[in-house]
Amino acid sequence: MMDDRFSRVLLDQAEIQERIRTLGEQITHEMRGLVPCVIPILDGGMIFASDLVRKISLPITLLPIKASSYGMESVSSGNLDLPWGVPPLVRDRDVLLVDDILDTGLTLTTLRSTLLEAGARSVRTCVLLRKQHANHLHSDYIGFDIPNEFVVGYGLDHAGRHRNLPEISCLEIEKKN
Ligand code: PRP
Repeated sequence: MMDDRFSRVLLDQAEIQERIRTLGEQITHEMRGLVPCVIPILDGGMIFASDLVRKISLPITLLPIKASSYGMESVSSGNLDLPWGVPPLVRDRDVLLVDDILDTGLTLTTLRSTLLEAGARSVRTCVLLRKQHANHLHSDYIGFDIPNEFVVGYGLDHAGRHRNLPEISCLEIEKKN
């Protein structure tokens, strides 16, 4: 942990909160008349989701799902682990999946199809960040498009650390040979 070095702050608290306010307004407008089932994708999505739902003026329910493909590594394993499974309560619900970052797309793509197979009526997605190399990947709501850097804070981790930082910073990662 002592070796982790931050190169710069990418998004400060005020920028993050202002964008979340406008995302919440947009979601409230576009999902009006629905009772959205908001699904924070744990662990990374929990901080973002907890702020976002307080900016959505609709009668939502919360149903977290735990999903992991990176483990303690900085590169995706290519397999999505769902240790808690998918709750049957999604049947006939209009789902809003909420995650911190869109990187390879594995997490959102897999969960979207899994939830539809489980009987969800509709599945929308909301990510706070989308990496530049993922700019061809769709999400219904995107907070910020960001460069291809390793970012931590505000839910994002490096080997499980830094999730509690209130801002999002770039980390200097030593490449393994
Ligand atoms: C991270 C992040 C997203 C996902 C994005 O989760 O929180 O859920 O990776 O990457 P992708 O687009 O390549 O799927 P991770 O698997 O590290 O688990 P965590 O949320 O517990 O950190």
